[in-house]
Amino acid sequence: MTAKELRQKYLSYFENKGHKIIPSASLVPEHDPTVLFTTAGMHPLVPYLLGQDHPQGKRLTNVQKCLRTDDIEDVGDNWHNTFFEMLGNWSLGEYWKEEAITWSFEFLTKELGLDPNRISVTVFGGDPEIDSVGVDEESVVIWKKLGIPDERIYQLGKADNWWGPVGDSGPCGPDTEMFYDTGKAEHGQVCRPGESCGKYTEIWNDVFMEYNRNKDGKYEKLAQRNVDTGMGVERMVGVLQGRDNVYD
Ligand code: ALA
Repeated sequence: MTAKELRQKYLSYFENKGHKIIPSASLVPEHDPTVLFTTAGMHPLVPYLLGQDHPQGKRLTNVQKCLRTDDIEDVGDNWHNTFFEMLGNWSLGEYWKEEAITWSFEFLTKELGLDPNRISVTVFGGDPEIDSVGVDEESVVIWKKLGIPDERIYQLGKADNWWGPVGDSGPCGPDTEMFYDTGKAEHGQVCRPGESCGKYTEIWNDVFMEYNRNKDGKYEKLAQRNVDTGMGVERMVGVLQGRDNVYD
């Protein structure tokens, strides 16, 4: 599958689920003064994640150009880029975990044809730094219902399963990440998703963005519950073409 085919497949899939296709915004953020560059699809949408009505409605999908300097130390491994394109689907205060996770899994296994047995997931397992938010049991239950066994559901802390804000304040929340088992471990067989042994490649992240971190470092509930998902185009094409890095 080519990058072009992947983009089209993704946008059509979510268009059929009632999402409006919106264009990629500029790499220089217009709506988010906390970052120098658009590092993820959420930056151009910050006002709408905070509650402003989006002219295209509550379900959006896009392919956003991103420049991610916070991963700079990882660039040069097999799977990290500075510039990349991110496929995303958005619920602005509308659908929630059940739909987001079910559609992600359906897209990966039915539309892209990935073997469900090679998919592992991580969910937010709580973290002392954010003691007001507990383990994301709801996502665990949904993944089990979709057939992912306990041993492939990892509960991890903030460093792995909490997304944002990229700057010092803004919308954020627990996430669930999907990993593809490449079958190859470059640095030993014993490793889990999120560790850089080369065995697991992160392919998609569903963020349940229902918090705002304020400038004092406090986490407050947003007025609405949003879904922010991100799948790297280059990575997914690498996986689909059986490559072991994004550069090929
Ligand atoms: N905002 C999320 C990410 O960039 C989807 O991983």
